[in-house]
Amino acid sequence: MIVQLVRKQIREMQEINWGDIPDNTGMRLLWGENQKFIEVYKEAVEKEIEKINLYLSPTKKELREELAQYNQVEAGNIIPTNGSDEALELIAKVFIAEGDEVVMPLPSYPCFESVSQMMGAKTVTVSLEEDFSLNVEKLLGAVTEKTKVVWIANPNNPTGNLLLTKDQIEYIAKKIKCLLVIDECYFELGGVTAAQLAKNYPNLIIIRSFSKVFALAGARLGYVICNQEVAAYLNRLQQTNQVFCVNRFAQAAAITILRQPELIKQSIKEFQELKKKFETKLRQINQLEVLDTKTTFSIVKILSKTTGAQLKEQLKKENIFIKDCSIYEGFGEQYFYLGIPQEQYQQKVVDCINKVLEEKKTYA
Ligand SMILES: Cc1ncc(COP(=O)(O)O)c(C=O)c1O
Repeated sequence: MIVQLVRKQIREMQEINWGDIPDNTGMRLLWGENQKFIEVYKEAVEKEIEKINLYLSPTKKELREELAQYNQVEAGNIIPTNGSDEALELIAKVFIAEGDEVVMPLPSYPCFESVSQMMGAKTVTVSLEEDFSLNVEKLLGAVTEKTKVVWIANPNNPTGNLLLTKDQIEYIAKKIKCLLVIDECYFELGGVTAAQLAKNYPNLIIIRSFSKVFALAGARLGYVICNQEVAAYLNRLQQTNQVFCVNRFAQAAAITILRQPELIKQSIKEFQELKKKFETKLRQINQLEVLDTKTTFSIVKILSKTTGAQLKEQLKKENIFIKDCSIYEGFGEQYFYLGIPQEQYQQKVVDCINKVLEEKKTYA
């Protein structure tokens, strides 16, 4: 029986069934994708096509140097990865062992738990307060001798708010002996970073993504910012097992955009305006409460009896794909997650949501 050959941790893993989601760029709103820099990326990627037969630079030196400059750290503080999810997995593989504990807020990003569980660790959760803030002392109270990693997304997914200030991050890093991993996937919108602290606090690790503000989700690129001693261990595993993990198209696209800081700044502003326009339209539906988020997605609470899951199913019929929040433990079923549609699709999305909610109200 194959099942007996499978590791216990994988046997016990809850698989997420995403279903078959079409490449519908207009109204595919379940992963907070963004649409930017297409022309810049096209040109960068085209130049790489004739080198498709060649392996890449094992050190990823050019990309590391650009990322170091963007974050005002040294190239030795940077480890590029195949999406930030791979960064989470790399940290788990290097540091977490069977019998360890990890601590994370709830609700938060489910991968923190799954990568830890994969290594045989137990996850200890700390519930966010009613307004979704994080009580730092409560978090510290959950850390024990057995804790190997404290995982925090800042801004948080799914609640979209900043959980910690830079001073609070420094305070926690000083207080604990284990690792503090701050996932700054939405940093460009949240505006708070602990990147500079990571140079001095060896137990502080920062994670970033190119999938959101940089609109490179399909190319898969993330990176770690950490102290050079930690980087050396992460590098040891990556250089040994997955030396070519970041493909040449992702590297070329990222290097090209990082050399255009004004364009990045302008596009962040444009994205924020696009999101504001969308949320203003959503707020006109009085059965909805739109949370204040600093992410590439909106989080909305349905104030009537319809659940996020029911809304998701109805919208699918209109070719609109959203996420209910059932994958997030500790988050209510009245919430749903929406990426930000381009302007020409916004009204249609809002109208369809309104129509579903009105119909449900009528038939309740
Ligand atoms: C907090 C957080 N971390 C990591 C990721 C994964 O991003 P990537 O596409 O870089 O793997 C996401 C994606 O939604 C996220 O919200």
